Amino acid sequence: MRIMDTVIVLNFGGQYAHLIGRRIREKNVYSKVVPCNISLEKLKEIEKNHNIKGIVLSGGPSSVFEENAPKINKELLDYGIPILGICYGHQLIAKTIGGKVTSAKTEEYGIIVPKIKKKGELLKDVEDGDKGWTSHGDAVKRLPSDFKVLASTDNCPVAAFEHRQKDIYGIQWHPEVTHTEHGDKIFKNFLFDICNCNKDWKMDDFAENKIEQIKEEVGESNCLIAMSGGIDSSTSALLASKAIGKQLKAVFVDHGFMRKNEPEKISEIFDNFEMDFIFREERDRFLKKIKGVTDPEKKRKIIGEEFIRVFEEVAEEYDAEYLIQGTIYPDWIESGSEDQSDLIKSHHNVGGLPSKLDFEGIIEPLRDLYKDEVRDIASKQGLPENIVHRQPFPGPGLAVRMIGDITREKLKILKDADLIFTEEIEDAGLDREYWQYFAVLMEGQTTGVKGDSRDYGNTIALRAVKSKEAMTASFGKIPYDLLEKISTRITNEVPEVTRVVYDITHKPPATIEWE
Ligand code: XMP
Repeated sequence: MRIMDTVIVLNFGGQYAHLIGRRIREKNVYSKVVPCNISLEKLKEIEKNHNIKGIVLSGGPSSVFEENAPKINKELLDYGIPILGICYGHQLIAKTIGGKVTSAKTEEYGIIVPKIKKKGELLKDVEDGDKGWTSHGDAVKRLPSDFKVLASTDNCPVAAFEHRQKDIYGIQWHPEVTHTEHGDKIFKNFLFDICNCNKDWKMDDFAENKIEQIKEEVGESNCLIAMSGGIDSSTSALLASKAIGKQLKAVFVDHGFMRKNEPEKISEIFDNFEMDFIFREERDRFLKKIKGVTDPEKKRKIIGEEFIRVFEEVAEEYDAEYLIQGTIYPDWIESGSEDQSDLIKSHHNVGGLPSKLDFEGIIEPLRDLYKDEVRDIASKQGLPENIVHRQPFPGPGLAVRMIGDITREKLKILKDADLIFTEEIEDAGLDREYWQYFAVLMEGQTTGVKGDSRDYGNTIALRAVKSKEAMTASFGKIPYDLLEKISTRITNEVPEVTRVVYDITHKPPATIEWE
């Protein structure tokens, strides 16, 4: 295995730790986000397979003055590898090396223009007057005299510093967010001039290496993958198919709650790849199981369990020794412990995979990748755009976009209305604007008038949201003219619908899905 130059990001709980990881990888340097309390032994273990060239301390929600605030292992500062602290990481380094940190009287939040005193190596090419983005309460006031202060802001006398001999660097504002105009320059300075990293991380190489690795690991055995039609499982399947062809058994379960024509489209795409694509049409079976169930959690549970039963049945027909999963990096790192999360995720990815099945091994080809890296690979490896940019779609599908019980008739109404909404958003060129956009079918009926007669029909709610990671979301401000067109089309083309409403709630307090 080729050992890559790597930068370790210590995650102090800041929402931006992964963003730092991404920025580094964008510069073709491999980065690994690890918990901030990682031991030196663990770091040395990582070093067996990675050439660690630098360490970045992320920001975090704590104050260095809190009793239980995370600390940095002092030995790390003498580890002989360049260290860069960002925000909390900057304050923590300052405090650890004997500097003075105080609670700033006025918090700084938002755009700032740092005053550059000396550019040093870290701020090389950053211009006086360049804007940065910051968010902090505590501030570094003073450092031991051998440290060079590079920049200050109104509330922070030491907003950036460096010590070339000790290879320690700090910055109070956030080079990883796009609002910081010169963020790229700072990362470039750190990665290439300070850490001397090689550009080892390339997506094309990654895909080719992964294909070779799968081939080697699997040998002559059969592999099973549960496909959802989403980008992660599709890309994993594609890489595996390039490695082992027909030894790959890709199982797609059509539970009947996908969007209109979606199962057929997915089937068409994957039938063209070199794999054994197994399409299981189980619509009646799921509908029967879910009949009369109105509680959202019960719906999810029943669908999840039935999915597992179907998957088990298929698995028994094939002599599969390996299970391939579409787990990606944020899926398992979030739990904070690599060991623990490995365990959790092998059962988690497709709503809990069969525990009864005994596999020789689980292969997760994408476990080191972020979503946009997966998209990049998917696109280069030939997955069509509608899969590469498919919206996130819940495992239980339309079953959780239909209030109350689920019937064949209601499914048809929802599918038809949803398709109209999708078509119109796409036609307006807004499909990449929104994280998700979909229709929901309300329970009960309301009065309407169609032609000259009274009508009593269904209500469709439309929801479109903007989001980055689905943790928070804001409702999409679709132009009224477009909403009018969509509403008119739905009430005209789906005769069972008399009313269309638009959801104007952010998350929180609402969730993205209605159930
Ligand atoms: P909520 O509704 O909690 O959803 O704001 C956050 C994101 O997760 C998606 N979602 C799911 N994805 N299985 C999934 O794979 C599920 O059961 C599920 N439920 C919600 C949702 O579409 C949104 O993007």
